[in-house]
Amino acid sequence: MRVLGIESSCDETGAAVVDEGGRVLSDVVESQIDTHAPYGGVIPELASRDHLRNLGPVVHEALARAGVTLADLDGIAVTNRPGLVGALLVGVQAAKGLAWATGLPLVGVDHLVGHLLAVFLRRAETSPEPPRFPFVALLASGGHTAIYRVDGPRAADVRELGATRDDAAGEAFDKVAKLLGLGYPGGPVIDRLARQGNASAVPLTLPMAHARSFEMSFSGIKTQVAALVRERPPSGEQELRDVAASFQAAVTSVLAKKLVAAARAEGVTTVVLGGGVAANSELRERTTRLAAEHGIRAVLPELASCTDNAAMIAYAGVARLRAGERDGWDLVATSTTSLPRTTRKGRGAR
Ligand code: KG4
Ligand code: ZN
Repeated sequence: MRVLGIESSCDETGAAVVDEGGRVLSDVVESQIDTHAPYGGVIPELASRDHLRNLGPVVHEALARAGVTLADLDGIAVTNRPGLVGALLVGVQAAKGLAWATGLPLVGVDHLVGHLLAVFLRRAETSPEPPRFPFVALLASGGHTAIYRVDGPRAADVRELGATRDDAAGEAFDKVAKLLGLGYPGGPVIDRLARQGNASAVPLTLPMAHARSFEMSFSGIKTQVAALVRERPPSGEQELRDVAASFQAAVTSVLAKKLVAAARAEGVTTVVLGGGVAANSELRERTTRLAAEHGIRAVLPELASCTDNAAMIAYAGVARLRAGERDGWDLVATSTTSLPRTTRKGRGAR
């Protein structure tokens, strides 16, 4: 089975061809970072227009690189939620057009399920052995941060164990980078700077870090960094590195700790990372180390599978198609995820 995946939920236009074994035959991502960088964040209207311009060429490129034509495919998968509705619509309409013209089955994919399954993608012979179900996964991206128990490859198999009550972890990286004048997106820059910083230089603490629950909070640390910058702006490269290292250590230690604790509470012996923040080198190291200390296997997606891509959407589409599922022409773009949320937003003891 070979499936074309299409992704346009935020600021990457993606198309990919993936087979049922998760082998990535092609994966084309056209990033809009340069379009949005001057604004310090994603401008929805500009995102839609860019998707519209880029999607056709990106799909052509994905088919060409995979060495296939539409006639060689078994289905078309498209992200239809969650995301910017105007951006999602571009992908959904293109996928419907292709499905209508070819007669291929169409399946909508929840972007978050795509991130949770990214670890199954195989980009090379050296790709890590994929995990077995059930596993406990941390999904940490620019829009979402939650820990899930994953019993199978479809949305109905995913149960939230705890999520952030406010900002997403990637959002905290982006906002802190902006406060420090490091540009957008912040994650990769902070990751790089932190490597040469002293993580105990600046006392930063995360709310709910020691709570026994798997809920998290990332907005407080951004406020701490804002206060710090206001009182005494970091002067010189080394002080910037120290703030970056202190911030990153605080965030990644909580993420790794809660993930491993959740797996132990569930009696599950595999943990998985997903989402853009899963590309963070310190999070990857901490997760691997802490999991090993508890006899748990940590499976990490390859770097190209962490940030937004269409290969993970195609693979989630494979799972739906294999289960005999397909969507009709009434498939709509929706801003929210289909995964039930158990964590409420906001403060207070729970
Ligand atoms: O999954 P993704 O590409 O898009 C969403 O679905 O949100 O995640 C993007 C987020 C951004 O907030 C970006 O700063 C963060 O992932 N990110 C990182 C790293 N690379 C990307 N955060 C920390 N360290 C990184 N190396
Ligand atoms: Zn994403």
